[in-house]
Amino acid sequence: MGKGPFLLSLALGAVLALGSHTAQADEDAKLVIEGQELVTKTEAPAHLQENLDEIYSGWVFRSSETQALQLDDFENPAFVFIDQAVDVFETAEGTAEKACSDCHADVEDFKGLRASMPRVKDGKLQTMEDQINQCRTEQMGAKAWGWSSTQMQSMVTLVGLQSRGMPMNVTIDGDAKPFWEQGKEIYYTRHGQLNMSCSNCHEDNYDNNIRADHLSQGQINGFPTYRLKNAKLNSVHDRFKGCIRDVRAEPYKVGSDAFRALELYVSSRANGLSIETPAVRN
Ligand code: HEC
Ligand code: HEC
Repeated sequence: MGKGPFLLSLALGAVLALGSHTAQADEDAKLVIEGQELVTKTEAPAHLQENLDEIYSGWVFRSSETQALQLDDFENPAFVFIDQAVDVFETAEGTAEKACSDCHADVEDFKGLRASMPRVKDGKLQTMEDQINQCRTEQMGAKAWGWSSTQMQSMVTLVGLQSRGMPMNVTIDGDAKPFWEQGKEIYYTRHGQLNMSCSNCHEDNYDNNIRADHLSQGQINGFPTYRLKNAKLNSVHDRFKGCIRDVRAEPYKVGSDAFRALELYVSSRANGLSIETPAVRN
């Protein structure tokens, strides 16, 4: 499926040692969780077809050992955090002394929501983190959670899990259009000392190795992801920040409008792939 190292690898290779892949997981492996088969490869959405024919979940590019952790919810370390979020969901907090469950009787009612986030609400681009903090501050009179805090990312994961197996389907036209355009612009802009864009790695070189890592298409249908590297749930924005740092650029801030727009754009590149929240990555 790879396109092979291309011209850019001249520049890239010098710094990052790009090579074609070696021992990898079985390319025909299937992601089946609790009897449900998830879509990990499919035709690229229409807006992407000038650049990509097919889209692939990041799961496809991981080692069989890492893949296996996502096949069974008892093995998936993210579920420890989900269990904590289930308790928090029912705990009253803030000046209104309300719990999430006082207004949202069943967390399963959020089924489908993750597929459409981020979305435009009242003229603003809203991520899941924004929605949850809005409920905390406006409905509960409680303090906003930090974007990347364990509490926030555990709750984002619990809400996201309700849509697992459903296809990603963010809206990119209408009032979402300007945000989507902004995100696309960021995606294709070269950053940092290495002068590289997201597309240089995740579109032009996926399926190649970069240092010891097998490059994926940088999809976010599995977020928040549990990473073995830091043993916690990682937000979409933290991942963006890490990748921008790797090209030695000043990252935008987690929770910034730039990252919200980038999140919408990157989500739209996964339209059609199943939601995998919570995915496991190295
Ligand atoms: C006092 C009632 C109340 C509490 C408590 C509350 N919410 Fe909400 N929530 C709402 C209302 C009303 C909406 C819809 C309007 C809005 O977005 O503010 C909503 C919307 C949402 C949505 C989006 C649903 C959709 O389909 O668009 C999510 C997700 C959500 N809340 C999560 C939470 C979580 C998690 C908590 C606890 C941290 C929480 N809420 C606490 C009242 C509440
Ligand atoms: C120098 C190459 C490089 C650049 C440039 C780069 N990334 Fe990455 N990115 C990686 C590597 C390596 C990984 C880890 C392996 C993988 O999943 O591809 C990664 C992982 C990711 C992931 C996690 C995918 C998953 O399935 O868990 C996302 C999302 C991502 N990148 C988005 C971006 C975005 C958005 C940009 C531009 C702001 C970007 N990356 C720029 C190298 C890069």
